[in-house]
Amino acid sequence: MKYNPFQPNKIVNPAMFVGRIDELEKIESYLFQAKSGNPTHFLIEGERGIGKSSLLKYVAPLANGNFDTPDGYIFKFLVVFVDLGSAHTQLDIIRIIARELKSQIGKVNKAKEIVKSTWEFLSNWEILGVRYHKEAGSFDPEDAKDNLVEQLEAIATNAELGIDGILVMLDEADAPPVEAHLGNLMKAMTEKLSREGCDNVIFGLAGLPSLLGKLKASHESSARIFTVLRLETLDDAERIRVIDIGIGEANTKNDFATAIDGNASKLLADMSEGYPHFIQQFGYCAFEADVDNKITIEDVLSGAHNENGAIAQLGRKYFSEMYFSKINSNDYRKLLDAMSKYSDRWVSRKQLIADTRMKESTVNNALLALKQKSIIILDESRQGFYRLPTKSFAAWINAIKSVDERRGGSLTSQSEVG
Ligand SMILES: Nc1ncnc2c1ncn2[C@@H]1O[C@H](COP(=O)(O)OP(=O)(O)OP(=O)(O)O)[C@@H](O)[C@H]1O
Ligand SMILES: [Mg+2]
Repeated sequence: MKYNPFQPNKIVNPAMFVGRIDELEKIESYLFQAKSGNPTHFLIEGERGIGKSSLLKYVAPLANGNFDTPDGYIFKFLVVFVDLGSAHTQLDIIRIIARELKSQIGKVNKAKEIVKSTWEFLSNWEILGVRYHKEAGSFDPEDAKDNLVEQLEAIATNAELGIDGILVMLDEADAPPVEAHLGNLMKAMTEKLSREGCDNVIFGLAGLPSLLGKLKASHESSARIFTVLRLETLDDAERIRVIDIGIGEANTKNDFATAIDGNASKLLADMSEGYPHFIQQFGYCAFEADVDNKITIEDVLSGAHNENGAIAQLGRKYFSEMYFSKINSNDYRKLLDAMSKYSDRWVSRKQLIADTRMKESTVNNALLALKQKSIIILDESRQGFYRLPTKSFAAWINAIKSVDERRGGSLTSQSEVG
C-alpha cells in the first residue's frame, strides 16, 4: 500500500495550495478595509474545478487568525463559510448562514454569555427552522433577512468579543435557482448593514461564471456590490510546485521515497494546461501507475490512458454530458481535435474545413450532430461560427490527443472513452 498525495476529488488542503497570490493579496486588503470600517465584498468566479472552493478554504484560516498573512499580520474575523449547493429558496440560504453563524459563535470564548440574546435567538431560530421549513409558505423571508442582519450586527459590533468583524463566504453561490433571489438578499443585507453603520461584515461569494448573470436576474444592481476576482489557470512554475509538494508529502508519509523525472513533471504540467483539477487527477493516476517508485513519462501516459485513468475520470466528473460515449464517429473526434486548438474561441466552419481537410458535407453533418448534443455552441449572431463550451473541455480534448500521439494509438478505441 502507498499513500497517494494528490487529491483529485477534494478541496485542496492548505499545505498543497499553490498560487492565487494576487487574489489572496486582494482579499487580505478587503479584510483590512472591513476591519477599518470600509467593507469590500468579493465574488470569485471561474470554471468548474478551477479552485474556487480551495481558495475560500485557504482564506478561512487566514481571516480567523489561524495563519498569519505573508507580511505577518493576524486577522481575527469570525468566519462563516457555507455551501449553498443544497439551497433552493431564499429562506434556505438564510437558514444555512444562520446555522453556521451559531456554530461559529459557539467556538468563541465566552461568546454565549457576551452575546447571550443573539445566542438564544439563533438557538430558537434553529429549532423553529424546522417548522419554518414545513410552513415555508406562511413564513416571511423578509423577517428572516432582517433578523439575520440584526444578529450579524450584534456580533460584529460587540467589542467584548475581540473580533475584527465577520466574513461570510458562500460557496456554490450559483447553485440556488434565480427564484431564491440571492442577488436581492445580498443587496438588502449589505444595504441594511451599511445603513445601520455596521461596516465590518463582508461577504465573499464563489461560483461558476453564470453567477453574475444570476445575481443580475435577481436584482439588476446586485452584481455591482461585488468586486469580481476571476480565477484562471495556474502558470508553469505553479503547476510544477503542486507536483513537487505532492511528491514531498508522499515521501514524508510512505516508508520509501518516490522520485519523478523532470520530463514526467513537465508532461503533467503541460497536459493539465494549468487546470488544478487536471494536475491533481493526472498526478494521482501517474502516482498510482508507478510501480518502481520512479515516476516516468510512461507512468504519466498509462495513468492518463488506463481504464478508469485520469482522462476517463475527468470525462465522467466534468464533461459527462459531452462524453465521448455519445460520439462513435471518427469525424466528430477529428473536428473536436481541430476545434480544441482554438480553446473556447469562435471558429468558422470554413476554417474547420481547411484545418481538418474533411469534406464540406462531412464537416456540416458533424457540426450539426455535435450542436444537437450540446457538445459545441453555435454563435447566434453570426452564421457558421462555432466554439467549444469551456476552455477546460478543450484542454481535456488536447490531453486525449497528446496521450494518443505519444502512445501511438487511438484512445477512442478504448472502451472507457469510445
Ligand atoms: N491552488 C491550488 N493548488 C493546488 N491544487 C488545487 C488548487 N486549487 C484547486 N486545486 C485542486 O483542484 C481541484 C478542484 O478544486 P476546487 O474543488 O477548489 O475547485 P472549484 O472551482 O471549487 O470546483 P467546482 O466548480 O467543481 O466547485 C481539487 O482537486 C483541488 O485539490
Ligand atoms: Mg467548489
